[in-house]
Amino acid sequence: MCGIVAYTGHREAFPIILKGLKRLEYRGYDSAGVALLNGDLSVYKKQGKVADLEKSVEGKNLNGNIGIGHTRWATHGEPNDLNAHPHYSQSGDLAIIHNGIIENYDSIRQELLNRGHQFTSETDTEVLIHFIENIQERSNTSLEEAVRLALQKVVGAYAIVVISRQNPKQLIAARKGSPLVIGIGKEEYFIASDATPIVEYTNEVVYLDDREIAVINNDGLSIKNIDSVPKTPYVQTIDMELEAIEKGGYEHFMLKEIFEQPKSIMASMLGRVVADKHRLHLGGLIEYFNRLMSADRIMIVACGTSWHAGLVAEYLFEELARVPVEVEYASEFRYRNPIIRENDVVIAISQSGETADTLAAIELAKSKGAIIFGVCNVVGASIPRATHAGAYIHAGPEIGVASTKAFTGQITVLTMMALMLAHRKGTISESKFREFLIELENIPAKVEKALKLNDQIKYISDIFKDARNFLYLGRGYNFPVALEGALKLKEISYIHAEGYPAAEMKHGPIALIDEEMPVVFIATADSSYEKVVSNIQEVKARRGQVIAIVTEGDEQIKNIADYVIEIPETIEALTPLISVIPLQLLSYHVAVMRGANVDQPRNLAKSVTVE
Ligand code: F6R
Repeated sequence: MCGIVAYTGHREAFPIILKGLKRLEYRGYDSAGVALLNGDLSVYKKQGKVADLEKSVEGKNLNGNIGIGHTRWATHGEPNDLNAHPHYSQSGDLAIIHNGIIENYDSIRQELLNRGHQFTSETDTEVLIHFIENIQERSNTSLEEAVRLALQKVVGAYAIVVISRQNPKQLIAARKGSPLVIGIGKEEYFIASDATPIVEYTNEVVYLDDREIAVINNDGLSIKNIDSVPKTPYVQTIDMELEAIEKGGYEHFMLKEIFEQPKSIMASMLGRVVADKHRLHLGGLIEYFNRLMSADRIMIVACGTSWHAGLVAEYLFEELARVPVEVEYASEFRYRNPIIRENDVVIAISQSGETADTLAAIELAKSKGAIIFGVCNVVGASIPRATHAGAYIHAGPEIGVASTKAFTGQITVLTMMALMLAHRKGTISESKFREFLIELENIPAKVEKALKLNDQIKYISDIFKDARNFLYLGRGYNFPVALEGALKLKEISYIHAEGYPAAEMKHGPIALIDEEMPVVFIATADSSYEKVVSNIQEVKARRGQVIAIVTEGDEQIKNIADYVIEIPETIEALTPLISVIPLQLLSYHVAVMRGANVDQPRNLAKSVTVE
């Protein structure tokens, strides 16, 4: 949440920062702002999107080789020009950008008010920069030291960058709980919340760790921890193509990412599944695989769409590897003193690898002695670094706020994990194992085929775009898919939607059904098919409108449902990888037809780094 970009070097800073902010806009888009040093320290900020900021500075002198920029997802204070970042210190000599929440800001603010400080915004961030300056003045110390002393007093999460009129070649950055990456170019440095604003200029990066402070000046980059212990920067080379973070001819990132799924699922399996050699290997699990083998129970922690992937994993691990699984919302798990036993294993699932609640759940489980496996997309993010072992999904950057290709990537990796465990434990026969591997290799082509339904789904979307509510129903492996379909629709089209296990309909939701209610059934040919057909009959008997996702060649449901979408057949346990595709497309088209901004839905941010 909130995007941070900063630059210092030989180029003009403003265009680099502006482009970087556009790349980070998925992290928040309530307001945007830039501070530039060019003799003076000038701040430009505007409520709204980065494009609004760009328009508002037309014709201004934006020269300068050093600057900081921010795109905001509001926490303290409503989204307006005053609350936008950067924020000045009391004297106007310092400016700051911040991602995170300073929890004890109110007491610091009171202290500063007593000392005569005046604030122009309602933000915790402005309090922090005043606090830093106040410490610097009172202790007559360097800015770096004042930042360090201030951060020692701060409770909460932060990624910050500070610039100062007095040190026109210096950037100071620090993090705790919110990500920061430093890009190292030729006599130039970039700082950002993730690598997307940086890859165009350099692929040499340093990921700042929690409680570290980086100083960039004429002497280059130096890093110390908050206790002043110097650290040697660990420079990594990242592998990210520029085209992966551009729309590539699609109208929206979300649509591009939906259509990328044949490729991204293949990437999740690359080098890991080799069906003709009867081989499945996830190298990142090996060191701790014995702990997975001996696990009495697996606990899965995640949020949102990743939690839905976790529910699919529950079915997979229990069916294939015969190990009990509990799936928990990370936000609940972390606050309820969970029982974690010696032989429990935790799997944390996260696209961004930065979700604050998931990270906190991991820390809690670790403190109780659990071994943690991560299933993440963003390489080098906080969650994969906090886990003992894991597997990246390798789906490539997901920029649309609504998660799509990460969901199928997560399920692919979790399927491979469950299969690898089942195979080693001997809870699956050789022939079944082989059948799964062959079918996994077929999935990208089947997803490709499902994507060809786009026009039909667009047609159906047009019919239902004005509905006020939707119900999504499925059973077994398709129950989490129903939840995911409902989440996709509500988050980008703002239509109220609920997902339920189809059999639960009779225990309440059936009361909602009338001729106005579209009900999406995921009714593929699987072990609960007949039961789902009965549920469809029950909805039709109450004149609900049924849109059914069925297996190709289905004749029975065709005669009952109002609209039928036929998807390729697969093994029951792999169905979610295909059945979710029409639901992603349905939500996309409905949202576009309603004029919603699908890549930047209101109130949402891609990376939820606050609890
Ligand atoms: C929904 C969506 C969110 C995320 C959730 C967890 O489309 O994107 O529900 O799934 O915020 O995020 P990660 O997976 O980054 O931990």
